[in-house]
Amino acid sequence: MGRMDGKVALVTGAGRGQGRSHAVRLAQEGAEILAIDVPAEGVSPYPLASQDDLDETVRQVEALDRRIVAVAGDVRKQGDLDALVEQGIAEFGQIDCVVANAAVWSTGPFWEIPDEQWREVLDVNILGVMHTLRAVTPHMMERGAGSMIVIASVNGKEGGANYAHYIASKHAVLGLMKSVALELGPYGIRCNAVLPGVVNTPILDWQGGWDLMAGGPGLGTREHLEFGGKAYALLKDVGMLPPVATSEGVLWLASDDSRWVSGLELVIDAGHMVLPGFNMANIAAAGQPPG
Ligand SMILES: NC(=O)c1ccc[n+]([C@@H]2O[C@H](COP(=O)([O-])OP(=O)(O)OC[C@H]3O[C@@H](n4cnc5c(N)ncnc54)[C@H](O)[C@@H]3O)[C@@H](O)[C@H]2O)c1
Repeated sequence: MGRMDGKVALVTGAGRGQGRSHAVRLAQEGAEILAIDVPAEGVSPYPLASQDDLDETVRQVEALDRRIVAVAGDVRKQGDLDALVEQGIAEFGQIDCVVANAAVWSTGPFWEIPDEQWREVLDVNILGVMHTLRAVTPHMMERGAGSMIVIASVNGKEGGANYAHYIASKHAVLGLMKSVALELGPYGIRCNAVLPGVVNTPILDWQGGWDLMAGGPGLGTREHLEFGGKAYALLKDVGMLPPVATSEGVLWLASDDSRWVSGLELVIDAGHMVLPGFNMANIAAAGQPPG
C-alpha cells in the first residue's frame, strides 16, 4: 500500500533537482505524474533543465511502473499549464495534488539587478506559481478536494544580501499560499508551503552560488558552496540537504496523512531557521574555509 495509491500529482520544474525528486518520491508511493519543465529562453545566468533532463525524470518514474505525462512548457504561460491539466484529466481522469516547484534564482545587489532579471524572477517564482494553482482550481473545486503545495524557501522568512528579487518572490508566494488556503478551504482544497533550506541542486551550483558562499564575485568554487551548506545547517554532520529531504515533506502534504492541515509553512532546513546567524560550531569543526 502506497501513501499516494490512486492519486495523480502535477509537478512543475520536474526536469531535475527537487522537482524530479518530488515526482519520483510521489510515484514510489503510487502516484501517476504530470510533469512540466524545459521553459522558453530567458535571462537566467545558469542553464535550466534540458529535454534530456526531463526524459530522465520520465525514465525514473516509468521504472517504478507508474505512468507519467511530461511536457516541455513554461509556467510563465497560463496556456501551457491549462493544456497540461486538460491532458492530465483526459489521461488519468483526475488531479489530486499540484506541486508548484519551478523557480529561478540569480544574484546581484538589488540596485544593480536589471529590470529584466527582476521581472524573470518575479514572473516565474510568483506568477508561475499562481498560474499553476489557477490551472487546477476549477477541477479541484468540482471534485471538492485537492492538495496544493507551493515550494517557497527559508528565504521567504528572512532577508538575504545579493538576491533581493528572489527573497521578495519567496516572501510573496507565502502570502499567496495563505490567501489561496483561505479562498479554497471552503471547497475542501488545502494549500500549504514547503520551505527548503540549502539543497544540493543546480540552482546554486554555478559561479554565482559559489561566490555568494565565498563572499565576493569571482572568488567562489564548488568547495565554498559545500562549506556554506554546512555553515547554514544547525544539525551536526549535515551540509546541503539531498533533494529527497524536501520530497518527504511534499509527500506528507500531498497524502491524506496531512488531511487536517492547510495554510502551513513546513520548514525543512536542518534547523537553519533557529540559528542566530552562522553556526560557529560547524565552522570550527570544518576548520578553515577553502581559498
Ligand atoms: N536548492 C536550494 O537550495 C533551494 C532552497 C530553497 C528553495 N528552493 C526552491 O526549490 C524549488 C526547486 O529548485 P531546485 O533546487 O530543484 O533548483 P533547480 O534549478 O534544479 O530546479 C528548478 C527547475 O525549475 C525549472 N524552471 C525554471 N523556470 C521555469 C519555467 N519558467 N517554467 C518551467 N520550469 C521552469 C528549471 O528548468 C529546473 O528544472 C524552487 O522553487 C527553488 O526556489 C531551492
